[in-house]
This record gives sequence, structure tokens and C-alpha cells, in this order.
Amino acid sequence: MAEDTITIRDDATGKEIKLPVVRGSMGPAGFDIRTLQNELGYFTYDPGFISTASCQSGITYIDGDDGMLLYRGYPIEQLAKHSNYLEVCYLLLYGELPNPSEMAHFQSVIIDHTMIHEGLRRFYSGFRHDAHPMAIMVGVVGALSAFYHDSTDITDPLHREISAHRLIAKMPSIAADSYKYSIGQPFIYPLNELGYVENFMRMMFAVPTTNYQVHPSCVKALELILILHADHEQNASTSTVRLASSSGANPFASVAAGIASLWGPAHGGANEEVIKMLEEINDPKEIAKFVKRAKDKNDPYRLMGFGHRIYKNHDPRAVIIRQMCHDLLKDLDTVNQPLFETALELEKIALEDDYFIERKLYPNVDFYSGIILKAIGIPLNMFTVIFAMARTVGWIAQWMEMMEDKEQRIGRPRQVYTGQPQRKHPAEK
Ligand code: CMC
Repeated sequence: MAEDTITIRDDATGKEIKLPVVRGSMGPAGFDIRTLQNELGYFTYDPGFISTASCQSGITYIDGDDGMLLYRGYPIEQLAKHSNYLEVCYLLLYGELPNPSEMAHFQSVIIDHTMIHEGLRRFYSGFRHDAHPMAIMVGVVGALSAFYHDSTDITDPLHREISAHRLIAKMPSIAADSYKYSIGQPFIYPLNELGYVENFMRMMFAVPTTNYQVHPSCVKALELILILHADHEQNASTSTVRLASSSGANPFASVAAGIASLWGPAHGGANEEVIKMLEEINDPKEIAKFVKRAKDKNDPYRLMGFGHRIYKNHDPRAVIIRQMCHDLLKDLDTVNQPLFETALELEKIALEDDYFIERKLYPNVDFYSGIILKAIGIPLNMFTVIFAMARTVGWIAQWMEMMEDKEQRIGRPRQVYTGQPQRKHPAEK
């Protein structure tokens, strides 16, 4: 049997080295290039990490050709059907679905941490009234490390676990407060008799002067959005969290870095951009014009919510959420119907177009999540905040895994230098 190695040969010198193959439980193997530079004197060059695995992970598996997404081995379709978000959080953190007593305990631990320090709440008044809630999130989540000193010893597994619980529990409160501050309404304290999603919606939409009733269909839809966004292996924001914390930075600061990365329109910011795009298209008759622009090499315009680095067949999250979009809009009888119709028409036209077929560009999860969030009444500038809330468990589960990984070292990519060769300062000439 052939050795489980890959041979690399430098054609210039004829020197060959064998590199060990690293096999996982599913999907393509990697080969370990850690000795490459010492032995052959080369770096690998891979902008955007197209072919580079930065770690071994047992949390999430994606098969982009088959449109498959597994959390800890469970297909996303089955988790979306049978589990709630907190169960999924438990699964991502601890590797197994909780039994009823484990779930009851987990829920009570999370509930313990839903409030945020009053001093942290005063932080909000330092932001401009019209600040984007994502800008507030980056600041406030980073500032958690200034308030919870008792859980920032990253070498202590108990501290790590408490930080994980704190982040999952406090994120909805921080997110809702960011919104309340931006619209000048009083902050609403969490009410722990409510579920995770109901609590968040109440903190977002209730005012002290009236009773607030959550619409069950909206809770169901938001719960689904949180489950679908909970983790997605080594995406840009998760890799940012791993890279930031590889230096030993505390998890609050590292998750703040992840939120910053998520904010970009090519990543979590896309759900906001999709709605702006659909509103700009406005009339389905105008779609052809926008599709033409997206195909034009000289125009940077892209169809937002289309394409994915990994999914080249379909995004399994998009399939689930598309159905939810239908169901919710029917239940709510909402004014968003025309927006959804424009989206369906755009999807149809793009999927029949050679440009999109050749490049395997399919609607991704964000193509539909924005329509649901809008129907629920979530304002546009809160869309990425909801994504951040959902993804917090993924970031923190990946961080916990990394902290226990004996192979983990400070992240330090190399470069191929293209600047000036060494030269003399003018004063030295
Ligand atoms: N509209 C038009 N053309 C596109 C699009 C699009 N949305 N996405 C990719 N292309 C073209 C691109 O121009 C390129 O064409 P060519 O080969 O002729 O140069 C080709 O498809 C490959 O694109 P790429 O930018 O090299 O692909 P990537 O893997 O680096 O980028 C992406 C993936 C998601 C950033 C990109 O598809 C995109 O910008 N999509 C729109 C933004 C979006 O919806 N983002 C949400 C991603 S899902 C949620 C998440 O995980 O955060």
C-alpha cells in the first residue's frame, strides 16, 4: 500500500520531501506542510485560504458539493426540525445533544447570566444616538472583559466555560440594548421565565408602558434563523476569533474581533444588503437590469445573497429558510409579500442564467433570512446583529476546542514579499 504521504519536488533543485497526510473522519484529507519551509525553503501561497486548513476541528462539517451541513454529525435539516436553539448551543459546546436533565441545568445556567452589569449599560450613552448597532456590539462585547475579570483566566477550563455561558446568555441583552439605545427607548431587562428567543424579542420590542405579546410564528422563525447561523466551521469571523485568541487574548475581546469581521457585506452584512438590493430593484420587471450589472466585469455590483465560497450545489440552510419564509409570510399576511415575490423572481432568473450556472452561484442563507427578519419587524441595521447573536455559540465552541488543542500555536501567516529590495537611506548614500 502506498505511504500516506505527499511528495513535493522542487523542480529547480530536484530536492524532494515527503509530507504526512492528515485524514479526518469525513471529507478531503490535508497534508501537513509545517516542515516545508525548513526543509525546502518555501512558503505556500494561498490568499483567502482557498486550499488551507488552519486547524483540525470536530464541530461542524460542510460538504459544499453535496450541500451538506452537519453540527457534531447531525444534519442541519434534522436539528432545524427537532431541536431548539439552546439545545443546539449545548450540542456545539459539549459535543452531544442534551438529555432533559442536562438541558434543564444548561437552561438554568444561561438564565443566571442574562443580565448585563449596570456599569456596562451606562457605556451605551457614550455612543452617538445614530450609531450602527454593530458598531455598538463590537465595543460593548469587547468591554465585557473589563467587567467580568473573574472568568478571564483562559488557562482555567472552568473560567472558559463561565465565559462561554456568559457570552451566550448576554448576547441577546447586549443586542437588544444596542437597538433600544439607537431609537431612544428605555432598556428592557430580561425576563427569565421566557425562552431564549421570546426573551430577546421582548427586550427588542416591549416598552415599559404596555404589555407585550410575542407572535409564536415569529418566535419559530427566529429560532430557526439562530439554529441555521449557529456555526459554519472556519468562516472569516470564526477564523478571526481563533486568530485573535491564539495570542492568548480573552474570549470577550476575541469575540468582539469576530463581530467586526462578521460585519462586512461579503459575510454577515449580506442579509442587510439583500433587502437594500430587493428594495432598489423594487419592480420585478427591473430584475434583468440588475442581473446584467452583476454579470458585467467592469461593474463591481454583485447580487447580494448569491454565491458561497464552499457551497457549489446549494446552501442547505437556504433550502430550509426559503420554506420558512413562505410559511411566515402566509401566517403574518405581511406587507413584505412583494419583496419576497421579487426575491423569488430574481432567484428564478439568476438560476437560469449561464453566468450563475457556470460559476455555481446559488442563493445563500442570507438571501432569505433578511426577508424573514423584516417580516418579524427587526430593523435593517439589526440583521447582522442577529447573525452575531446566533454565531456567538459557534465562535465560543471553536475557541474552547482550540484551547484544548495541543497543536495550537499563535497564528502567524507568512507572506511573499513584493516590496523594494534592501536599499540605502538617502542620508547614507
Ligand atoms: N454576484 C455576481 N457574481 C458573483 C457573485 C455574486 N453574488 N458572487 C461571485 N460572483 C462571481 C465573481 O465575480 C467571480 O466571477 P469570475 O470567476 O468571472 O471572476 C466568481 O463568481 C467567483 O467569485 P469569488 O468572489 O471569487 O468567490 P468567493 O468564494 O471568493 O466569494 C462570496 C464568495 C460569498 C464572498 C461571493 O459569492 C459574494 O460576494 N457574494 C455576495 C455576498 C453574499 O451573499 N455573502 C453572504 C455569504 S453566506 C453568509 C455567510 O457565510 O456569511
